[in-house]
Amino acid sequence: MKKAIAPVLHSSHDSKLLETWKGLDAIAIGVKLTEKGPIAQSSLVSKSVIDHFDVNLETEISLWPDFTGKAGEIIELPVGAADGIARLYLVGVGDESRENLRKAGAALGRKTKGSGFTVLDGVVGKKDSVVAHAGALALSQYVWNMKSEVKKKSATSFIIYGDFSSEVEKAKILVEAIYTARDLIHTPSNIKTPAWLASQAQAIAGKKKDISVKVRAGRELSRFGGLRAVGGSSPKPGPRMIEVSYAPKGSSKWPHVVLVGKGITFDTGGVSLKRPYDIMMAMKSDMAGAAAVMSTVMAMPDIKPKVRVTALMMCAENALSGTSQRPSDVITQYDGTTVEILDTDAEGRLVLADGLGYARLELKPDYLVDVATLTGAATLGLGKQYAAMYTRNDRLAKKLHELGNVSGDRVWHMPLVDDYSVGLESDIADLNHIASKGHFSGGSITAALFLEEFVGETNWVHLDIAGTGRSDVDAGEFVKGGTGFGPRLLIEWIASL
Ligand code: BES
Ligand code: MN
Ligand code: ZN
Repeated sequence: MKKAIAPVLHSSHDSKLLETWKGLDAIAIGVKLTEKGPIAQSSLVSKSVIDHFDVNLETEISLWPDFTGKAGEIIELPVGAADGIARLYLVGVGDESRENLRKAGAALGRKTKGSGFTVLDGVVGKKDSVVAHAGALALSQYVWNMKSEVKKKSATSFIIYGDFSSEVEKAKILVEAIYTARDLIHTPSNIKTPAWLASQAQAIAGKKKDISVKVRAGRELSRFGGLRAVGGSSPKPGPRMIEVSYAPKGSSKWPHVVLVGKGITFDTGGVSLKRPYDIMMAMKSDMAGAAAVMSTVMAMPDIKPKVRVTALMMCAENALSGTSQRPSDVITQYDGTTVEILDTDAEGRLVLADGLGYARLELKPDYLVDVATLTGAATLGLGKQYAAMYTRNDRLAKKLHELGNVSGDRVWHMPLVDDYSVGLESDIADLNHIASKGHFSGGSITAALFLEEFVGETNWVHLDIAGTGRSDVDAGEFVKGGTGFGPRLLIEWIASL
């Protein structure tokens, strides 16, 4: 797999750094937004900068009337070139909240992207913001392409000043998970067939402790009617269910979390073809849920929670071909439920239904979470910054909402409106999959109600990441393309169990 190169993150509180300033290309210090205007943070780094380089920060700041100290603003000053240091970044940190330090990290990351600099980052003071800040430094620098001529520029290195080694280690684990998810999402669909995703999962697992991978294909999928109906449209190589497990010695007594991810490697819509065609362009990202759950389980050996974790990647291409399914077909899902197909573009819920049924019947999960770029409707309601979260467990919803804010993968608790369930009735099967009966609208909700039919009494959460899974612009921690939404939230949550 073509991999993006992440910047190097360190932390250090070696005060010698502030005496010799050796090996540094740039220094960053924070500027707060206050009622009295922008004021430089008073920290060991800023004091040392003032002393050593003989700069008057107040005067420098006042020369830039547009600079307010709002999070994400940056000004750049030349300082002390004789010492080998060429730049001082003054980085707006607003009120120094975690969210603002995340924004400041993204701005500094973007400013130094591709520079190969070693940056002494003195912006973050409090431990509880380090993970967000350090993560943003790295996430904003993500670049993926298949250009044959590679511009050889070494990655940026950040030395985050302070006693933050465990926080920076944690940030590195999260960044690795998100970079892996983004690499998979950015890979074009002619390369990332379901079989290719399986080989990637095996290759990554080969480097990790306590992770095993089982791939099902062909006849082994005979009960997986949804996966076969969708993936049969692209029979070479055809669909795969990739089961990635973290199960160290002794884990059989631990709680078991099963994660199910939508892994549509390209979504044309099938016979119910997507129109206009430009909305199809983004559909190489339709496996972002599978990428998220895989990256999450692969991080477990580093996090070492006392939780058994299984990820089910439900992988298929939704192509238009002579073997595509037809509107009006009836399929049988893993748990025996029959489903009338009315729109072949609502394919995600069919592959997820097999995964949820398999999880419930074979894996006996304590928690069952699915992650999917499921409906355009989720984006209509919430925009692209919040994922739609569905669950009957209000306590779990509250916890995930809070962890979402802390981690940066924000989720909003949406209602499973029972009144809309009648829409799922069918004259010729147990269910129809698009809630055609009621004309209730609320497409993200009715998709969730369909999925709920397959989870039985399990503690279940559905995350519709259609909006958050992909960014149209470079903004904050996101770069245009796959965002890698999900692993941060899921890893934090599993670590908290
Ligand atoms: N993959 C799409 C949903 C999607 C849309 C994800 C835009 C990301 C951005 C999904 O398979 C789909 O086509 N959903 C349909 C469902 C409808 C046919 C009931 C939709 O949302 O229009
Ligand atoms: Mn679709
Ligand atoms: Zn889809």
